[in-house]
Amino acid sequence: MNYVEAAVSPLRKTGQIKLHGKEAFERMRKAGRLTAECLDMLVGEVKPGVSTAHINQLVQDFALDHKAIPATVMYRGYRHATCTSVNHVVCHGIPNEKPLREGDMVNVDVTLIVDGWHGDSSRMYPVGEIPRRAERLIEVTYEAMMLGIAAIAPGKTTGDIGAAIQPFVEAQHMSVVRDFCGHGLGRLFHDEPNIVHIGTPGEGAVLKPGMFFTVEPMINLGRPHVKVLADGWTAVTRDRSLSAQFEHTVGVTETGVEIFTTSPKGYDKPPYNV
Ligand code: MF3
Ligand code: CO
Ligand code: CO
Repeated sequence: MNYVEAAVSPLRKTGQIKLHGKEAFERMRKAGRLTAECLDMLVGEVKPGVSTAHINQLVQDFALDHKAIPATVMYRGYRHATCTSVNHVVCHGIPNEKPLREGDMVNVDVTLIVDGWHGDSSRMYPVGEIPRRAERLIEVTYEAMMLGIAAIAPGKTTGDIGAAIQPFVEAQHMSVVRDFCGHGLGRLFHDEPNIVHIGTPGEGAVLKPGMFFTVEPMINLGRPHVKVLADGWTAVTRDRSLSAQFEHTVGVTETGVEIFTTSPKGYDKPPYNV
């Protein structure tokens, strides 16, 4: 894999991994923090009777109030400020008017562009009381993401991230989705490298200080297989088992890793206790 100093690279996907400097870290902290504050704002709003379209509207309003742009609007034909993935929806759920019901769980995925830089993060929101197996899936998924992030340091590889996630998840008799992965980002939404959430230690691209990417494992209670519905976006589990996801945006530092999208309010994972 080739690397390029981001400050002098063209603003497009070049097939090289961009390495960012100090100012870029400052920008990503800003974008990441606002994205996390947006997800914090949703705590207390996600409850029985509320629609995912309403959640989307709250995110859209928050973004505009804070001079940020939701990156998904007009992205490859997508038209909404969030993806809202309910129950067996794996990712890219399209907000709609159907009210959420007690016992549902929903992933809300928000990407905000702040001064040209992308913060990309998602969390799970329980709708009222949820079944124990849904709670367990959410706990395992959050832990899986954090184990993946803990494997990040200069000299490690992208394969080390997946290798930290997969055995942990499979030991709980759950499965890691293969069809979607994390991604480099910065001034671009989706860039090199791909971050696959399964893997072999030492394989893939070597991690270097200044790399920015997401870790965003999707974990299923059943089999890993997904299918995309006729709308061209909504990905669901083939076996209709529940699926959960968390996502953080991170940067590789000289000594390890920095998470840009940590919740200022401590609402990184449920229960949010409000
Ligand atoms: N936010 C998603 C991600 O984590 C991407 C959504 S693209 C969309 O990469 F078009 F579906 F919104
Ligand atoms: Co992402
Ligand atoms: Co996202």
